Amino acid sequence: MNHGIKLSQHIFWIGVNDRRTHLFENLWPLDKGISYNAYLIRDKKNVLIDTVEIGHVESYFDAIDEILESGENVDYLVINHMEPDHSGALKLITQRYPDITLVGNKNTFKFVRGFFGDFKRILEVVEGDTLDLGDHSLTFVMTPMLHWPETMMTLETKNQILFTGDVFGSFGTLDGVLFDDEVNLDDWEPEQRRYYSNIVGKYVKQTQRALEKLKTVNVRMFAPTHGLIWRQHPDHIVNLYDRWSRLDGDPGVVIAYGSMYGRTERMAEYIARELILAGIRHVKVYDASKTHLSYILSDIWKYRGLIIGSPAYNNRLFPTIEALTIKLEQLHIKNRLLGLFGTATWSGGGVKNLIRFAETTGLEMVHPPHEAKYRPLEKDYEICRDIAGRMATRVKNDE
Ligand code: FEO
Repeated sequence: MNHGIKLSQHIFWIGVNDRRTHLFENLWPLDKGISYNAYLIRDKKNVLIDTVEIGHVESYFDAIDEILESGENVDYLVINHMEPDHSGALKLITQRYPDITLVGNKNTFKFVRGFFGDFKRILEVVEGDTLDLGDHSLTFVMTPMLHWPETMMTLETKNQILFTGDVFGSFGTLDGVLFDDEVNLDDWEPEQRRYYSNIVGKYVKQTQRALEKLKTVNVRMFAPTHGLIWRQHPDHIVNLYDRWSRLDGDPGVVIAYGSMYGRTERMAEYIARELILAGIRHVKVYDASKTHLSYILSDIWKYRGLIIGSPAYNNRLFPTIEALTIKLEQLHIKNRLLGLFGTATWSGGGVKNLIRFAETTGLEMVHPPHEAKYRPLEKDYEICRDIAGRMATRVKNDE
């Protein structure tokens, strides 16, 4: 995409689109790619806000060169977040501009030293500090754990542009667009929610704290490190973040199951149909062996009801369902209505471990769990119907 797109007269987007990497953090699918957004403020003192993933450094340098005059210096690099998708070019920047000063907080510089060693020119800032650039000035807002302990946001006060780091970011490349008013926002929501649930979802309390803090800051535009820049509809993304971090659920149900030979799957299919017959209009059924955890988590973040099914496998959960439950425990999932089912052939272990999951997370079960022996029979389907019926009633009552 063209570099040097302006957020204001002297503030430029110098980010890159990555359509090559298959997995973000070598874990989360990037079938729609991702952008690494970085910014340049041109003033008496020139400032970079973050860098990009190291594989894209040439494009990042070219973007800087297209904006600055030949020989012009960069005075500061503000490091809002040290994850390497943003700090990747840090060392190369300091080699390119030997007089540059790195700007970050105490934790930032612990990470800088850990990853790259010592730098002579650093400026350590705390909440509310001001950095005067000439015509512009910057202040700093600490937002720890969004998404690492050192994370902060930087406010440019003249145009009231807040550089938010990962917060308000998204998977998906910027295909010729940059701003929220250049897209259909509904098209972007799934990748924004998948990004939030996969990457920042563990830190819902910190998200709420940050949203409270932002109420006290005058902001006209959010400029995150991934995805769209919010200049027309900042409230849109704030409302979504508020909803996702409170784990408010839409009226709908996710059924995630594992199945080796189709018997647990048949129970999942039966429950799905019964939910529809009971009036639920959003039912998402996922075979956890087929659909990457990333997408299942995203829909779990969207809908109020969650039904999980597993056969026994070596006296435990089916591995892909085990991975899902472990991830949900790590994310401290809450506010979901839970249904559990499965199958066993000799000593079981699937549903038993789903019950352990329910106890660990404290999620409310709408019906006692049910385990079919060998294969589901009519008596088992009747219980599946009851699970679906109770789930549907509760989901509809919560609307
Ligand atoms: Fe986009 Fe937490 O890095």
